[in-house]
Amino acid sequence: MGKLRQKLFYMMARIYFKFADNKLAQAQNVQDGAEAGDPATAALLRRAAAEGAVLLKNDGTLPLKGKFALFGRVQADTFYAGYGSGGDVRRRYAVSILKGLRNANAPLVSALAAAYEAWSAAHPIADKGWGAWQRSYPEMPLSEELLRASAAEADTAVVVLGRAAGEDRENELKGGIYCLTREEEELLSRVAGAFRRVAVVLNVGNLIDLSFLEEEQIGAALLIWQGGMEAGNACADLLLGKVSPCGRLSDTAVRRYADHPTAGHFGGVKYNEYFEDIYVGYRYFSTFGKMPLFPFAHGLSYTSFSREAALGEGCVRVKVINTGACAGREVVTLFVKKPSAPVETPARELIGFCKTGLLAPGACEACVIPIDERDLCVYDSARSAWVIQGGEYELYVGGDVCSAEKIGSFVREERIFEQCSEQGAPRVCFPVLTQNGGTMSVRTASQDVRSAMLRDLPAPLAAGEACTFEDVLSGRASAAQFAAQLNQEELEAISRGDYTMNSPLGASGNAGVLGGVLPSLREKGVPPVTLTDGPSGIRLHASASLLPIGTLLACSFDVRLIEEVYRAVGEEMKVLGSDVLLAPALDLHRSPLCGRNFEYYSEDPYLTGKLAAAAVRGVQAAGVSACPKHFACNDQEFNRNYNDSRLSERALRELHLRAFEICVREGKPHFLMTSYNKVNGVWAHYHFELVRGILRGEWGFDGCVITDWYMRPARCPEFPRLKVNAYRVRAGVNVLMPGGGYLGRRKPDGTLLASLGKKGGITLGELQRNAAEILSAIAKTHAAQKAQNLQENL
Ligand code: BGC
Repeated sequence: MGKLRQKLFYMMARIYFKFADNKLAQAQNVQDGAEAGDPATAALLRRAAAEGAVLLKNDGTLPLKGKFALFGRVQADTFYAGYGSGGDVRRRYAVSILKGLRNANAPLVSALAAAYEAWSAAHPIADKGWGAWQRSYPEMPLSEELLRASAAEADTAVVVLGRAAGEDRENELKGGIYCLTREEEELLSRVAGAFRRVAVVLNVGNLIDLSFLEEEQIGAALLIWQGGMEAGNACADLLLGKVSPCGRLSDTAVRRYADHPTAGHFGGVKYNEYFEDIYVGYRYFSTFGKMPLFPFAHGLSYTSFSREAALGEGCVRVKVINTGACAGREVVTLFVKKPSAPVETPARELIGFCKTGLLAPGACEACVIPIDERDLCVYDSARSAWVIQGGEYELYVGGDVCSAEKIGSFVREERIFEQCSEQGAPRVCFPVLTQNGGTMSVRTASQDVRSAMLRDLPAPLAAGEACTFEDVLSGRASAAQFAAQLNQEELEAISRGDYTMNSPLGASGNAGVLGGVLPSLREKGVPPVTLTDGPSGIRLHASASLLPIGTLLACSFDVRLIEEVYRAVGEEMKVLGSDVLLAPALDLHRSPLCGRNFEYYSEDPYLTGKLAAAAVRGVQAAGVSACPKHFACNDQEFNRNYNDSRLSERALRELHLRAFEICVREGKPHFLMTSYNKVNGVWAHYHFELVRGILRGEWGFDGCVITDWYMRPARCPEFPRLKVNAYRVRAGVNVLMPGGGYLGRRKPDGTLLASLGKKGGITLGELQRNAAEILSAIAKTHAAQKAQNLQENL
């Protein structure tokens, strides 16, 4: 092919794939179902939606005391969740902000509420389809007459502002997206001019520019995020003071976007260099002495608390007293400042947190926050080791990161905590930020990946005694013994899902099915395993509970609550026929502009990891499986299938992989999903070093690794004979989802077996190990449990 023709071909292919990515992933439109669902789940989700809301500012305007006027069309057209795979649940019902307030008999200016309701009904929101959703809605033109009449009835106004968030679409620094629109600014200033007290309610999926909250006329601001199907009831609970706000920001809110350490280093077409290195979010602001608008872990309450903290043996003990006039819950955070040599460290790093129960006025609670030595380590890429540096470790207890107070310190001798080997290091050199305000070059890769791959090759399995999958389930045979009996066709089939989304082998509307995708596999007892999105509920054609978005859940800082929420989802999965929830999503909030932040938790890996582990434990406690995603660094939506996340090995391990590490070690998920993007030059679904090296090798993950939906075709640079699926399997990524690839073909693409038996090709041992890893994960699924129960009852 001539160069020009080749270029043209690639351009056309990219346009096609972009279209196919979007088309195929859009399984359904969002609608409301008809059922009320389980009242206990509804109550739990209402509590969660309230407890993850953050009171940003309050001069006493909140809770509302008397009659109030409610402005902003989002009161009726509330945003309940983000769009895309992580939000498009056919929700059972949804309670708007207005409906929630009416349910609570709130003293609203009724003519104003009725006007908004009528206007929003007459101006429905157009559904523009996948990746094109409206990010904000046009406001109702407000007549001077209606404004004045409302102000004559009430002296307090509440203005609701909203923003959509969604997959495959980035935030932009524009009015109606990250910034306010002219209409919104005008609405705020007119309302502020007419009312004595003004509160703002923010119904957003991602953080927006909040600098307007510095205006004195705005007395209070409540960030309710997108709270799922119970959003409106939860909002009413908070505005009316039935629940005292107890959420804390899981991110830093900057005064100006330009203040963010990733400004200028985000949004690249081909790649992003993670210039901020280890100084993600508050690590940057605290180290460089910069004051953000609202710091990490900021959040007010209607009551007040006192804290007494003391350093104990391997822990910090904190006594919290409710010193105010109403009941409330308090979050306590623990930060460390590690010694800064030889490897420099940020001024603050979160290493613990807890949340009290509901404390009545005057009541107190003692919390114990354990200190884990692993959280005191730095990753020294020069030594390829996790190291406890010698020197003083200062501990700070808060509140938010800025006001956390030093409560003591201890000293450690230098020691290697864990010796690793270089994995996933950058292949090109670029500068990253250092503490003195200068830059240094990242340490580039020196590992010989080809040799590491060769060392990892397993021998073929010896054919043992004949067994069925039922024998594996009852412990009479191992998954490897069973895998040794599979023929080539079966080894190929098990390494990919059924060909399409909404597979006929699973519940209607599923994201895909893996496992028993061939009749011969099913005959041997391997069940089809049904996968559904996640994280905001179960995405099927049947209706399901719609959860609050991930960021809201993270702002609750409540491990137990998240475990409970996902346990409830797990119970629903069994009823609806889902075996694996494609959740939690735990890439970091590297930049406030990532369109998919709403699904993710935080800029902090410790908080993210602990909460994601809780979500996994919750789902799996119900007897179904979780599949954390996207491993790793999928923190930009724009050009996500091609973009290369370039970062130092230290930032990768200490920040971006750390959340996954905690989630894997503590949650023990049965499945894990790779991401679309490249990490230091290698697509995550071909990343031998990340998957075989770190995930399995260092963290001991023993589950099944699947791709994100479809993957980029590529040839293995170390073994050019290995193409696409063979390359993937050598990297340790077990299953291609869904199995038909972008083209939705209904037969294997042939790339897995093409090189079998050839020099440098895929080996039988690899195919069998791949099958054994998948089968042992399948053995833990609800699908397998059901199959076994069926057998036993025959
Ligand atoms: C998303 C995943 C999702 C999958 C299946 C992809 O577009 O990135 O998070 O689980 O689709 O719907």
